[in-house]
Amino acid sequence: MRIFIDSANIEEIQEINRMGFLHGVTTNPSLVAKEKRDYHQVIREIAAIVDGPISAEVISLELRDMLQEAEKLADIHPNVVIKIPLTANGLQAISILNQKEIATNATLIFSANQALLAARAGAGYVSPFIGRVDDNGNDGMKLLEDIVSIFDQYMIDTEIIAASIRHPMHVTQAAKIGSHIATIPYKVIMQMIQHPMTDAGIEKFLSDWKQSI
Ligand code: G3P
Repeated sequence: MRIFIDSANIEEIQEINRMGFLHGVTTNPSLVAKEKRDYHQVIREIAAIVDGPISAEVISLELRDMLQEAEKLADIHPNVVIKIPLTANGLQAISILNQKEIATNATLIFSANQALLAARAGAGYVSPFIGRVDDNGNDGMKLLEDIVSIFDQYMIDTEIIAASIRHPMHVTQAAKIGSHIATIPYKVIMQMIQHPMTDAGIEKFLSDWKQSI
């Protein structure tokens, strides 16, 4: 499973990118709004840091506006992937952008059927929102498992991004299920790195070392 960061914060992305395991970035309108900066400039800076797919989301809901926005975002850098919400217009936009060879990531996926339709319309990626499914009293991992199994069964090459990850166990479970990618917030990546036994082990090694000299 490849690791993406779910962030629009340049410092976070730089810090995580330096560790060598990052394969891409996803953003969404809420994450970009938090930065209070020019949207296109943020995407441009991210694309200069990370050598991998960078998802940038359209805000419009009308097809024509979605396509206009998508083309402007795609012009920023060849690695930009257009994130499109899963609506009827969104599916049309995915199909048209696919014909123009512009990569898309179908977002706000809450059912296996939505993922299947997005894949068949030509989405390069689908993003099931695991944490938000859990928030609603349902099982986000079951949704991910269903999508993985359907895509495997029909040899669909659309990649699955486990999104709306809330804690490290979501990442482990997504990897076991066979998600191609997990997009993970900075805080959760830092939680994945840390383990109290690692800290205790370092402390013990250092104190033993100091006693021997
Ligand atoms: O970027 C899409 C998704 O990861 C959002 O996560 O935590 O706002 O549900 P969250």
